Amino acid sequence: MANINFTYVPGDGIGPEVGDAAMAVLKATAKKYGHVLEVEQHLIGGAAIDALNTPLPDETFASCKKTGAILLGAVGGPKWDHLKGADRPELGSLLPLRKNLNLYANIRPCKPYPALIDHAPLKRERLEGTDFVVMRELTGGIYFGDKGRDAQGAYDMCRYSKMEVKRIAIKAFDLAMTRKKKVTSVDKSNVLETSRLWRETVIKVAEGYPEVELEHLLVDAMTMHMLTKAQSFDVVLTENMFGDILTDEASVLAGSMGVIPSASTSDGTVGMYEPIHGSAPDIAGQGKANPLAMILSAAWMLNLSFGMETEATAIEAAVEAALEGGHITADLGGNLSTSQVGDWIADHVNQS
Ligand code: NAD
Ligand code: IPM
Ligand code: MN
Repeated sequence: MANINFTYVPGDGIGPEVGDAAMAVLKATAKKYGHVLEVEQHLIGGAAIDALNTPLPDETFASCKKTGAILLGAVGGPKWDHLKGADRPELGSLLPLRKNLNLYANIRPCKPYPALIDHAPLKRERLEGTDFVVMRELTGGIYFGDKGRDAQGAYDMCRYSKMEVKRIAIKAFDLAMTRKKKVTSVDKSNVLETSRLWRETVIKVAEGYPEVELEHLLVDAMTMHMLTKAQSFDVVLTENMFGDILTDEASVLAGSMGVIPSASTSDGTVGMYEPIHGSAPDIAGQGKANPLAMILSAAWMLNLSFGMETEATAIEAAVEAALEGGHITADLGGNLSTSQVGDWIADHVNQS
């Protein structure tokens, strides 16, 4: 019997709610397919600040490093918004986890489910056939540059090394080779020097992939193209902050913030899996959160960290069945609670 040893860090707001739903699905999957879950649950973010006075306790980081497979809910919320710099949940836990585990490649898919096409605010013909993946650089750029205040104001430095751009570009081209063989690199090279380096480096990497079509788009135009010709994209390669913003926009095509999972990977075997959404303080504690992004993130963990493709596919099929049958939360037009959706999917996996 295979052992699935991973670190579960539910975090704040809706993090523990969608996390509970994903854990119910993982338990049902383990039972059905005969593996053992060895879950190391730890505090992170605001919850860790409240209990232990630090957003990333040593034992949390040690467990993440040891298991190398991390399932994370979300961190942050109004309660901790008065905190500054690394005392904050986001800067003090999520960013150091990503950086210290070298999780530089963040993959975020956008493939609207047929059942959700009429739910999304865009016209059907703008959505049908959309299937792209954003390859977001996750450990560089403005997020990690020198930041601070001086007498006149504040600053955030944006830096990229050639190595940082090259390695994420290679990930994007490798992925494109397994898909529709197109990379759209998004930058702001008409203004930013880091974007000029980005574009030059991407062009050099592309020389090693003659079969892959490369296009460059400026990020401002990309926000428009994503709404008007989403079908034309395959792998969208972009830097840290642009990838953050563009993937929230992509969630509108997919139907909700609550349906897009993500995987953050490196060159080795370490992987962190989290929905792209945050702690959603506006709906936290009400059982309204859509757990699908978290459940799909858990499926990705089984597949990418533990090689359990069959199990991951069973979860993905159950998610699709929930959508087809209308077993969904209010953000998608349904009337089930977070835990009801989780339980429905767990049962479906069990009976599949
Ligand atoms: P958010 O993603 O939490 O919420 C944006 C909107 O989407 C809200 O209206 C929310 O109700 C809705 N939404 C999000 N997830 C949903 C779900 N699963 N089901 C239904 N609706 C959902 O973004 P925000 O409000 O800008 O940020 C709130 C907090 O979360 C901030 O402290 C922010 O720093 C943090 N955050 C954390 C992460 C993370 O931990 N990975 C990601 C994004 C934001
Ligand atoms: C995300 C989040 C984070 C980011 C925040 C909470 C630091 O928005 O994962 O999309 O900007 O990367
Ligand atoms: Mn974000």
